[in-house]
Amino acid sequence: MDFLTSSTHLHITTWVVALILFFVAAFSAKPKGIHMALRLFYILVIITGGALFSVTMGSDMGMQYGIKFLLGILVIGMMEMVLVRKAKNKPTTMFWVLFAIFLFAVLYMGFALPMGQDFLA
Ligand code: HEM
Repeated sequence: MDFLTSSTHLHITTWVVALILFFVAAFSAKPKGIHMALRLFYILVIITGGALFSVTMGSDMGMQYGIKFLLGILVIGMMEMVLVRKAKNKPTTMFWVLFAIFLFAVLYMGFALPMGQDFLA
């Protein structure tokens, strides 16, 4: 499984595609199919992120990696909340705000951590 952990490229690819699918679904009149594709990408984001996370077990940055993991899951959770509430014609503003906050935090955290790009550290 070296291809999952030798660089962060695969993880980046999966979350970039997920974000694009999310925005397309969020502004589409018929988002059902795109939403299904997005759910597949949630799994891929979690697998590629989880693989990177697994090689950090026992490192002295466990706390930071734990927070990165949690924030990644929260971003996915907020995307899902926005799309499900939109489908039910319920207000989504609160979840858009939380999505933006968690996304900013996970991008900051990811780029500050030592694997891959760490230009914020
Ligand atoms: C939409 C959700 C997510 C976004 C936007 C995101 C974003 C990022 C970014 C920007 C990086 C840095 C890449 C680099 O420096 O080259 C990264 C790395 C990483 N991500 Fe995620 N991620 C997400 C979800 C997850 C999840 C769910 C997990 C855990 C299961 C996870 C675990 C990791 C780990 C362990 C790293 C390596 C950190 C390091 O550079 O040392 N990510 N992610």
